[in-house]
Amino acid sequence: MTTNISFLLNGDKISYEIKDHWTLLHLLREEMGLIGTKEGCGNGECGACTVIVDKLAVNSCLYLAVDADGKVIETIEGLASIDGTLHPLQQSFVDNGGIQCGFCSPGMIMSSKALLDEKPTASYDEIKHALAGNICRCTGYVQILESVEAAKGQLSGGGQ
Ligand code: FES
Ligand code: FES
Repeated sequence: MTTNISFLLNGDKISYEIKDHWTLLHLLREEMGLIGTKEGCGNGECGACTVIVDKLAVNSCLYLAVDADGKVIETIEGLASIDGTLHPLQQSFVDNGGIQCGFCSPGMIMSSKALLDEKPTASYDEIKHALAGNICRCTGYVQILESVEAAKGQLSGGGQ
């Protein structure tokens, strides 16, 4: 069965004929070519596929595309400005060693963005909690947490 869904993706209105068994991850990566969102485990354990749906970080591998109808969706592709200027979170990950192989990075950044959009002054423990579902095989996590901390300073206007 197929269904026509409409949603806002990184600010653009999208209408798409989907198969009802597709996940949001499949729709984004395989059908729409938005390969910034990664597929790691495919079953909700690694966070590599994290996107923001109606302001909440979700594992897109577990989220049915049909449920995206009417939603506002953000992916990593929507973060940088049109002139290529990185979002403060992206720049902070670059500057603070939060990216090594980069596979986990889109998911880490989207989980962090969902938190800081809701709570720009989130504590270190709140950042750790928000990233608890995102696994990194490279960095040991410290640089990732430092990256989010540094971006938090910028996003909340505190400098850093
Ligand atoms: S690919 Fe979705 S949680 Fe791992
Ligand atoms: S930077 Fe390689 S998995 Fe996190």
